[in-house]
Amino acid sequence: MRPDSHTYALSADEKDELRDFRLQFHVPHFEDKECVYLTGNSLGLQPKGLKKYLEEEMEDWAKFGVEGHFQARRPWVSYHEPFAEPLSRIVGAKEEEVVAMGSLTANLHFLMASFYAPKGKRCKIICEKKAFPSDAYALQSQAKLHGLDPAEVIIEVSPRAGEYLIHIEDILQAIRTHGDELALVMIGGVNYYSGQVFDMKRITEAGHAVGAKVGFDLAHAVGNVLLSLHDWRVDFAAWCSYKYLNSGPGGVAGIYVHEDHAQNKDLLRLAGWWGHDKERRFLMEPDFDPIPTAESWQVSNAPVFALACHKAALDQHDKAGMSALRKKSLALTSFLEKVIKEVAEDQGDNGFEIITPTDPNQRGSQLSILVHGHGKPLFDKLSDQGVIADWREPNVIRIAPVPIYNSFMDCYRFGEALEKALKA
Ligand SMILES: Cc1ncc(COP(=O)(O)O)c(C=O)c1O
Repeated sequence: MRPDSHTYALSADEKDELRDFRLQFHVPHFEDKECVYLTGNSLGLQPKGLKKYLEEEMEDWAKFGVEGHFQARRPWVSYHEPFAEPLSRIVGAKEEEVVAMGSLTANLHFLMASFYAPKGKRCKIICEKKAFPSDAYALQSQAKLHGLDPAEVIIEVSPRAGEYLIHIEDILQAIRTHGDELALVMIGGVNYYSGQVFDMKRITEAGHAVGAKVGFDLAHAVGNVLLSLHDWRVDFAAWCSYKYLNSGPGGVAGIYVHEDHAQNKDLLRLAGWWGHDKERRFLMEPDFDPIPTAESWQVSNAPVFALACHKAALDQHDKAGMSALRKKSLALTSFLEKVIKEVAEDQGDNGFEIITPTDPNQRGSQLSILVHGHGKPLFDKLSDQGVIADWREPNVIRIAPVPIYNSFMDCYRFGEALEKALKA
């Protein structure tokens, strides 16, 4: 490793205004040292404040039983409500447009029940090739639910031959080509495999120009890149909270619905009692009257324990703020990229191809490295040195320096481990 990279890492950490946030998280250990944890795009680290919130809910449950719905220090009946404020800041929306609820794929189904309404020839869906498999399965089953053949109605936009990234022009062109046959555009805001950020504003404008609805799976975008869902006039979006939002395995997810749709009581929701008018919920009325906010997509009562974890994580995230996090993410990711390139160059190894865009505007905190000719043994050698990264068959290592807890020294240590693995 080059000495100037070491000097840079030390001084960048020293100057980092967010450096103390790392102390608020449990960093896993390998032998007697902290791991180089670079897989927050898969599962974020546990905030230290989480245990206290969980214990408080357990205490209140023990103390009040069912009365905790109204008497707990954070009454369970309205437990989800304060989450709208920080979430709206993270995704760039109004508070009435977001709600913490459910789980990601299930939420996508709920949203598509409202926003995928094929009629006559307007029945097609545009998505990206190599979307996360859960999204592909969800889209296929939505098509089948409407009696349609997925092979006929789902249009996947692919990278061009020999490339790994999708040109935005190709997405826009596909939208124009399918025009009045298009019902829905549903794309990952950040592709899970390549780390490519899509231009959600332009995609939304293009979809609306042909009369289609536009939604995004923000699993890899939320808490990672800057979003302005309301201003972009995105129709709907869904995300999970266990990646960049650090809310724990299977943690409670979240949705966004543009206010124009949320206020439209005639829009179909797959309804449940927690989406019914709050003032009259306990009157147990026979007909569903949706709350005129994103909350009307809630089906069941709030998962308090999962929300307690979410609260601890959002406390930290909100304190750091998206713009400071994004600023650090840009610097961290560029440094990590530089370190990888230097190691490859110094070792005379040209088997590394970073497929994530080099343009910082088109990527978040993730680098996906194609390791030509190295394969899984290289990844295993990294793991043996306490690097926690993510392996995707056949030959991709995904790493994500997450600004709220990763340091520039983590990136340097990754370089050291990579160098050692190549020498071994
Ligand atoms: C882009 C994307 N979509 C969907 C999912 C599935 O999420 P869940 O299991 O929470 O429904 C994931 C999981 O990692 C994902 O990365």
